[in-house]
Amino acid sequence: MEAVVIRRGETSPTVTELQRPDPGPGEVLVRTLRVGVDGTDREVIAGSHGGFPAGEDHLVLGHEAVGVVVEADDTAFEEGDVVAPTVRRPPAEGPNEYFEQGQPDMAPPEACVERGIDGAHGFMAEYFTSPAEYLVPVPEEVAEWGFLVEPISISEKAIEHAYAARSAFDWDPETGLVLGNGSLGLLTLAMLENRGYDRTYCLGRRDRPDPTIDIIEELGASYVDSRATPVAEIPDAHEPMDFVYEATGYAKHAFECIEALAPGGVGALLGVPEPWEFEIDGGRLHKEFVMNNKALVGSVNSNVSHFEAAVRTLGGLPAWFLDDLVTAVHDLADYEAAFAEDETTIKTALQFNQI
Ligand code: NAP
Ligand code: BGC
Ligand code: ZN
Repeated sequence: MEAVVIRRGETSPTVTELQRPDPGPGEVLVRTLRVGVDGTDREVIAGSHGGFPAGEDHLVLGHEAVGVVVEADDTAFEEGDVVAPTVRRPPAEGPNEYFEQGQPDMAPPEACVERGIDGAHGFMAEYFTSPAEYLVPVPEEVAEWGFLVEPISISEKAIEHAYAARSAFDWDPETGLVLGNGSLGLLTLAMLENRGYDRTYCLGRRDRPDPTIDIIEELGASYVDSRATPVAEIPDAHEPMDFVYEATGYAKHAFECIEALAPGGVGALLGVPEPWEFEIDGGRLHKEFVMNNKALVGSVNSNVSHFEAAVRTLGGLPAWFLDDLVTAVHDLADYEAAFAEDETTIKTALQFNQI
């Protein structure tokens, strides 16, 4: 079968012939339909995040997958079921408490591997296998968009944790700000619209006309250009934000967003930046946190419960939004285009088999 891999020492992916995997006991064989591409895949390809499976010279890419069960073994799945796989698997030493509790998303990096990202092959192949416990059913009606379940699940988790940090008092967020107009930021903005925020904002650094700004405004949110309005100045330029979701990977935003928060507000940090030293007024930010009861939550990955929530969320997203967000689905013959980026690209996916 064909697979898309990144090889050690190379900086662009290639297609290679691999043996079709054989499912072990309790495992399911899945025929891959589509696999999405995100900022993390670009970081993995560039070598700034993740790593190769131990002792191997290549990594099969892809962590945002949807496929169809072709061999269900004696699991609860049936042939023909559409499924999305979770990303984390136990490390070489075997399952630990995080996996035993069904919360591998809470494992530190050394206590897990991530398929397609760090230490384990991903899903960009014509077939993949997975233990049934890591597969989540996807309704056939949304199979074509099933590769969005994983990124939506990332935000389901981050929002759950951020809201939990505000659960000790009567908190009813009215204003929400998403930092970043990439695919994760736009998906999250659409999720906030469904959660009944009165006013939402999304930050980017693009000139009009731009397709992401069109989506932001079509969703009913306001576009904020970080070149004209730095994050810390958003309360003066617009209004303080009850909830801030950082999806830029721009490290200064982790600190600037403290100032963008309203009293009692919470920020969720999702970006995975490179090391970067810069100056901040730590004393002022510390005091701001304390005197205004603010919270910041870091969040990575997601577990089965977040995938299940994401499947429900996906079913409620407007068709126009999905059509505009997914700018291209490429066949394997055209795989390089799925990783390329220009100002018209938002979210892309690779198609391995017909739906
Ligand atoms: P992406 O496509 O690279 O999106 C990032 C967006 O942020 C881009 O549109 C970029 O604008 C914008 N941006 C960056 N710096 C900015 C600045 N200073 N001002 C305004 N806008 C800025 O990545 P993604 O796939 O959406 O993911 C977003 C981030 O989340 C990445 O860092 C990724 O690694 C991380 N992530 C984390 C998790 C997790 O589990 N924690 C999961 C998925 C992704 P331009 O396009 O105009 O440059
Ligand atoms: C993936 C997560 C993963 C994170 C860190 C994200 O792009 O969606 O599943 O945990 O990167 O590697
Ligand atoms: Zn991802």
